[in-house]
Amino acid sequence: MQCATCTGPVNIAVIKYWGKRNEKLILPLNSSVSVTLHQNELRTKTTIAASPNFTKDQIWLNGVEEDINNSRLQAVISAVKRRARKRKSDGETNPRLNWKLHIVSENNFPTAAGLASSAAGYGCLVYTLAKLLNVKGELSDIARQGSGSACRSVYGGFVTWDKGTNEDGSDSKARQIAPHTHWPELSVLILVVSDQTKHTSSTAGMQTTVETSELLKQRLSGLQTKEDQMTDAIMNKDFKTFAEITMKESNQLHAYNNIHEDVKVSYTFDAGPNACLFMLDSEVPRFYSLVKHFFLPENGHTTIQGLPITEQTL
Ligand code: DP6
Repeated sequence: MQCATCTGPVNIAVIKYWGKRNEKLILPLNSSVSVTLHQNELRTKTTIAASPNFTKDQIWLNGVEEDINNSRLQAVISAVKRRARKRKSDGETNPRLNWKLHIVSENNFPTAAGLASSAAGYGCLVYTLAKLLNVKGELSDIARQGSGSACRSVYGGFVTWDKGTNEDGSDSKARQIAPHTHWPELSVLILVVSDQTKHTSSTAGMQTTVETSELLKQRLSGLQTKEDQMTDAIMNKDFKTFAEITMKESNQLHAYNNIHEDVKVSYTFDAGPNACLFMLDSEVPRFYSLVKHFFLPENGHTTIQGLPITEQTL
């Protein structure tokens, strides 16, 4: 039997991925930008065992067996195996590639509650299987086929997912634009206000948006400029611009229309109700105590986590 265990981080998008041009290959309509979070607090841990004695592939997520025939799971497992078969040293006949797999994955945070669990989950699954089968090199294009946002969790620090233009998706992958050490003052508070599964999955939500939304067309026409501005803001450590674009992106996703002045903190929401707040480290004590004072007594099950941004250490 062979075994590998890895942990994988969550990433929070500041330019959001919302809408696909190819559902099967998970190719996005727009490029996106994200920040990978420290994985001591929020992470997926995945162990994969391969054995000639296993009779079938199986997967357990947070202790519950899931359907291994899920098309996305099958897509990433076959893609990693295909890449392993391509390696000249092993040739086509490595029998270990035919051993059945037992995959055990657990999140230490609410799953499917809009906290990028699928990103950490698929990023970690692909990385762990690649480690087990000794596959080296680019993995973000494979993680993307499990869940789009997962391609960004393969890298630490500040990450862009280039949408790509090729029909086969070969140029739709993530790349690091700056390591975590680039902007160590940038901090994140995650406010977990609900651990309930979100009402609409991102997959379904973006499908409906693509089919019905006029706003999406407008959004896409101005997005390249926004993405460039965001990249510049990150490179120049310009918190004001970073914060404004982050909130506008979150608002657009939730179709709100607020105006924000004197920016000391920036919020972003993915598809669920839980807030992610960016601020400079000098502001953390003030916001932490404000949130604790006004927010926690009202809502017993709310938790707060202060996370530095860090190198991803899968
Ligand atoms: C709002 O990556 O979960 O978090 O590709 O269908 O699995 P699928 O969607 P998913 O969508 C994430 C959407 C988002 C924004 C983002 O992370 O960029």
